[in-house]
Amino acid sequence: MTQPTIESILQENRTFAPPAEFSQAATIGSMEQYRELYDKAKADPAAFWAELAATELDWFQKWDQVLDWQPPHGQWFVGGKLNISYNCLDRHLTTWRKNKAALIWEGEPGESVTLTYAQLHREVCKMANVFKSLGVKKGDRVGIYMPMIPEAAIAMLACARIGAPHSVVFGGFSAEALKTRLIDAEAKLVVTADGGYRKDKTIPLKPAVDAALAHDGVPSVENVLVVQRTHEKITMEPGRDHWWHDLKAGASAVCPAEPMDSEDLLFILYTSGTTGNPKGVVHTTAGYNLYTHMTCKWTLDLKDTDVYWCTADVGWITGHSYIVYGPLSNGATSLMYEGVPRPSNPGCFWDVIEKYGVTIFYTAPTAIRAFIKLGEHLPNARDLSSLRLLGTVGEPINPEAWMWYHKVIGGERCPIIDTWWQTETGGFMLTPLPGATPTKPGSATLPFPGILADVVDLEGNPVKDGEGGYLVITHPWPSMLRTVYGDDDRFRRTYWEHIQPKEGQHFYFAGDGARRDADGYFWVMGRVDDVINVSGHRLGTMEIESALVSHPAVAEAAVVGRTDDLKGEDVFAFVTLEGDYTGSDALINELKQHVAKEIGAIARPGDIRFTDVLPKTRSGKIMRRLLRNLASGQEIAGDTSTLEDRSVLDKLRGGA
Ligand code: WTA
Repeated sequence: MTQPTIESILQENRTFAPPAEFSQAATIGSMEQYRELYDKAKADPAAFWAELAATELDWFQKWDQVLDWQPPHGQWFVGGKLNISYNCLDRHLTTWRKNKAALIWEGEPGESVTLTYAQLHREVCKMANVFKSLGVKKGDRVGIYMPMIPEAAIAMLACARIGAPHSVVFGGFSAEALKTRLIDAEAKLVVTADGGYRKDKTIPLKPAVDAALAHDGVPSVENVLVVQRTHEKITMEPGRDHWWHDLKAGASAVCPAEPMDSEDLLFILYTSGTTGNPKGVVHTTAGYNLYTHMTCKWTLDLKDTDVYWCTADVGWITGHSYIVYGPLSNGATSLMYEGVPRPSNPGCFWDVIEKYGVTIFYTAPTAIRAFIKLGEHLPNARDLSSLRLLGTVGEPINPEAWMWYHKVIGGERCPIIDTWWQTETGGFMLTPLPGATPTKPGSATLPFPGILADVVDLEGNPVKDGEGGYLVITHPWPSMLRTVYGDDDRFRRTYWEHIQPKEGQHFYFAGDGARRDADGYFWVMGRVDDVINVSGHRLGTMEIESALVSHPAVAEAAVVGRTDDLKGEDVFAFVTLEGDYTGSDALINELKQHVAKEIGAIARPGDIRFTDVLPKTRSGKIMRRLLRNLASGQEIAGDTSTLEDRSVLDKLRGGA
């Protein structure tokens, strides 16, 4: 199976209408209804969002102004007061949902826990009180470095409850990566666990926190709260480290939700960009709450009868918006699974669907491609008839994978929502509404109502149908990132200055290339910047290059993405060595290991090639385009006239 080419995608003309039965029961059940909402929102976006904010969320105080747009800064529901943990928990307690399952959790070794809304509320209040007892106040940042256990969601909600912005760091990141993120956010408290289970192994987490904090590595951190999960032996530093179960025992289950301003910082989430360090993407309270709520309601078509499972990790935006905040704001049942398909049980996902009668399943194309490889017999051996809706996110889905998902997992009866969005957008931007939108394999279809998207050239002119261009959002939306934490200049440069539209226009530049077909459907083609997407995880080429050159053997490194059947893209590194070193297989392995240690296993290069020289322009810029071609074994495409030393190409080819 290969990745889609532009040509194959544009020749894709299969269309799948929503099944009639699905449409009849769906919240948005026809294209007419979608068009009506879309047109209404386009005509007056502020009025559209204000109406939904008033009916869908609970407020402590109503806003004065719906949108204050001072490009590129948008503020939503200015002057309003609310609390997202109140909207996710408290407001359900006065309804029949009080004893409904909020979170269903399944651990990799097989344990399970169900927390009702009332129980989850109690846990969150207790943790919020523990945070307070550790000196955390409104506005203080809390780092969360956790396995996929209920306490990860509890910690996030507890932060939101007392107005302490969280910064969740994916548990697969290394101590070094954790440290830079904690330093940037100036976290006061870190919430972690002794470890977690993944792929039949335990992953140590607390030791990584210890390494990050060693020698006063993160001076802002005063306390570490540790959840016991694996019971492995760890060291606890007296005065700094506290067991959650110890402090919980004495904590009150009463903790009123702090009234937060609409624009108060809700969380920071670091994501890779084109240059150096990861960016702290800033999301605020009201707009994020409303947008994740509405997208769950209309795109996931979440209902009280659903058991909804998103397979992401809470360390990514998908886990934030579509495991925790969006589903709980809707009073839904959200399933959290600690594990991933693994040697001891490659069919574990299908077991979970059968065991809990999952109705909505949301995963990533890379996972689907892995399932295809593992074989149909695994899902076929389970009863998946409870499923009614399937979703995908993270990277373009190749039509073959889409068709397999449709047939083998969806039994040809479940619509597929291919949702295009980003850490920065907070929620789904381009997506089918499953009861309304006819789908085409490989297309994220149309904008969510209230989202104005376009495909443009560098001057902001829309390109012709079928032509490639830059994907942009042309009007502010409630859950847009507000800034890059501590670096507003970077926010402007990264997202608002690439495209130079007409005077008075401001386009959000997503960093993705796209095309639109004659039906107005969007086809996202992938990143146009130096970000690579490995198994749906965003990695900056610069970050990996920095990790490589921090090894004594490496003089210079250039990292590019190479097409990979399973991962979508894989990391390919070209490396020049310091004089005393010679390339060997052992050194390749050592460098791969070094990157995993510096960043995390997700960044480990799939391939490293040693070379004497890197192709550069006369001004000294590495010509990545050429390296991308070489890495993928393609002919060198395009202009090479700016190359300083043309013999470099022959040398690189010779090394192939
Ligand atoms: C890519 C994940 C095509 C895209 C929610 C985007 C997609 C980046 C899709 C954001 C999709 C995500 N089709 N490409 N359905 N969904 N992407 O911030 O390149 O981890 O810019 O957010 O993933 O990745 P992030």
